[in-house]
Amino acid sequence: MEATIISEKKKHYPVLLNEIISIITPQYGGTFIDCTFGQGGYSKRILEHPNSKVIAIDRDESVKNKAEEISSNFKDRFYFKNLKFSNINSLKIINENIRGILFDLGYSFSQIKDFNKGLSFNSTGKLNMRLGINDFSAHEAINNLSEQDLIKILKYFGDERDNKKIVKNIIKERTRNFLTTEKLVEIVIKSKKFKNSKIHPATKTFQALRIFVNKEISELIYGLINATKVLKKDGILAVVTFHSLEDKIVKYFFKSLSENKSISRYEPKKTQQKMLFRIEKKKPIYPSVKEIRENPSSRSAKLRYVIKIKDTIEFKTDILEKFNYLLKIEGISKKL
Ligand SMILES: C[S@@+](CC[C@H](N)C(=O)[O-])C[C@H]1O[C@@H](n2cnc3c(N)ncnc32)[C@H](O)[C@@H]1O
Repeated sequence: MEATIISEKKKHYPVLLNEIISIITPQYGGTFIDCTFGQGGYSKRILEHPNSKVIAIDRDESVKNKAEEISSNFKDRFYFKNLKFSNINSLKIINENIRGILFDLGYSFSQIKDFNKGLSFNSTGKLNMRLGINDFSAHEAINNLSEQDLIKILKYFGDERDNKKIVKNIIKERTRNFLTTEKLVEIVIKSKKFKNSKIHPATKTFQALRIFVNKEISELIYGLINATKVLKKDGILAVVTFHSLEDKIVKYFFKSLSENKSISRYEPKKTQQKMLFRIEKKKPIYPSVKEIRENPSSRSAKLRYVIKIKDTIEFKTDILEKFNYLLKIEGISKKL
């Protein structure tokens, strides 16, 4: 699993922006759904094309100011809603030619800069990591869950090989006081046997907790399923991922619906599900050397996309069963 490189980034860079635009071709008009509005990098570039419209969503309420700024310039062509993308199908979309749906996963530069969110290793105080519209925070998870549950979270969501040692020290330290963000960082640094000079020692632990707190596995799975329902025939579904768990899910979803696939191999050919997507490029698209130089955290980005070739909202997928082992770990949150 790749981790984010430490960088001295000063502003927000929309990742793989030119590549996204050349794939979705907003110059030909149509409506695009930006599922991860953030700082509006993708939305703004699409709106530069006068026949295009953007419906943008983001779970973080604090991006509303940015959305209002864009709305004042593109009143009739831009709409924003504070929503989790797993609920994309709850948008009231009537008579819109949805030509593209975009996901740029993870968090933005302004979110990491907001120390109240506690996504940065330099944050202090109460643990948080909520991106928006959450049921619980990292404070509740770290201070209440059992040793076994925390080990599973660090192992499967962070690929953290020192998971046992870190969790043992968390359990020991939390008996004295609630753990704060700075205390968690200190515990991880102290517990890690293998240190990589390029990335912060707490990168994997923070990634695991962020995925758990924001239920990023089910968000992505239901986001993909429901976006596919909303997308029109010939529309493009494009996803930028930042770590191997996300990429594994996106790759499986696209691939499994791009083959003449039967749920059971004994099913007669006639009842087999027909292809829903066409994959134009098997390999993911990576940022250029120039982009990585300007924005080192784009280094781990991968872009995959498919074209929907059937006009249907009904389709079968086994993605929930395939990733049930991860959904079960997410389900640990029911104990909180
Ligand atoms: C990497 S940023 C997007 C940056 C954006 N493409 C731009 O150019 O400004 C990811 C954004 O997605 C939002 N986000 C993450 N998970 C989400 C979810 N499940 N539903 C809605 N928004 C989500 C985050 O709050 C964040 O603002």
